[in-house]
Amino acid sequence: MECSRPFDPRDFRQALGMFATGVTIVTARMDDGTPVGVTANSFNSVSLEPPLVLWSLARNARSLAAFRGAGQWNVHILSREQEALSNRFARAGEDKFSGLELEAAVTSAPLLSGCSARFQCRTQFEYEGGDHVIFVGEVLDYDRSERTPLLYVTGGYALATRAAGPVATEPQSQPASALFSEDLLGYLLGRAHYQFLTAVRPMLDRHGLAEADFFVLALLSVREPLGADGIAAHTAYTGIDLGPVALQALCARGLLQERDQAFSLSERGRDAILHVLAAAKAAEADIAARLDPVEAAALRNLLKRLIAVSDPGLPKLWTA
Ligand SMILES: Cc1cc2nc3c(=O)[nH]c(=O)nc-3n(C[C@H](O)[C@H](O)[C@H](O)COP(=O)(O)O)c2cc1C
Repeated sequence: MECSRPFDPRDFRQALGMFATGVTIVTARMDDGTPVGVTANSFNSVSLEPPLVLWSLARNARSLAAFRGAGQWNVHILSREQEALSNRFARAGEDKFSGLELEAAVTSAPLLSGCSARFQCRTQFEYEGGDHVIFVGEVLDYDRSERTPLLYVTGGYALATRAAGPVATEPQSQPASALFSEDLLGYLLGRAHYQFLTAVRPMLDRHGLAEADFFVLALLSVREPLGADGIAAHTAYTGIDLGPVALQALCARGLLQERDQAFSLSERGRDAILHVLAAAKAAEADIAARLDPVEAAALRNLLKRLIAVSDPGLPKLWTA
C-alpha cells in the first residue's frame, strides 16, 4: 500500500497515542496448560448483539501461537491500582503469573482479580492486520467492579476526569484585569478550599479551634510526639507561625501536653481533632457523592501531583 508521504514511525506512533484508551491484559492458556498474557490497549468493543469485542497482537509477540491455538481468551480492563501489573505483562519473557491468584473462569484462560471489568471470550474471527493479528471474540461472560479504570494516552498512564464544560474560545466578558480569569489556578484552588471548609468550620468553632490550632492538632494526630522544630517544619506550608509561643498557648488551653520538649495531644485535644476530622470526612463523602468515582480519584491524583511539583522540600508526613 502506498502512503501519500513517507511516515516517520515515531511520529506516526505519537499521533496514534493522541487517542486515549484503557489498558487491558489479555490472557490465554497453551495446550500444556501454561498461562500466557500480554498488556494490550488495542482492545475495543465491536457489537452489542451479538456481543463482540476485538484486540490486536503483534506478529512478533512470543504469545502469538498460544493465542491462535487457544481459541479462548480473557480480557481484563485494568484498574488504577494495576499499573505495576500492566508493566509486568508488557515485558516479554518474565514469569508474568508468578504470585497471582487466579479465579474460576468459564473459558480455559486465566482469570485475574482486582480489575475494573473482565470479558471472557471465544475467538470468532481472526484477521491479518499488517504487523498485527486482529482477534474478534464473542463475549461468553463478563463482570465489572467500581474500581477506577487505568487509562493510557500520549505514551503514559492516566486517569479520567469529566470535562468541566466546553472550553470558551471567546472571553464571555471583559475582565477588569486580564490577570484574573476563571481558570486562574489560585482562584480555583482557593475557592474549592473555602467551599470545602464551609462544611467543617462549624465543628472547628464548636471546639474553639482556629485554623492554626487545627494544623497542629491534625499533624499530631498522625505523628506524635514532635518537638517545636518538627511541628514548624511539617506545617511550614501554611505560612502561619506555629512556633513555641503558639504551642505553649495550646498547652495552656489543655489541647496539648509537653514532655521533654516534645508535644503530643491531650485527651481533650484528641477528642477535638477527632470530631473535626470526622466532619471533614463527612464533607468529603458529600462532595465525592456528587462527583463520579473516577473523577474523585482523578482529583486526588491531580492534587497530589500539584503538591509534589510545588513542594519546597518539606518533611514527608505520610511516607517517612
Ligand atoms: C499500555 C500498553 C499497551 C500495549 N498494547 C499492545 C497491543 O495492543 N498489542 C500488542 O501486541 N502489544 C501491546 N503492548 C506491548 C505488549 O504488551 C508487549 O510487547 C508484551 O511483551 C508482549 O508479550 P509477549 O511477547 O510475551 O507475548 C502494549 C504495551 C503497553 C505498555
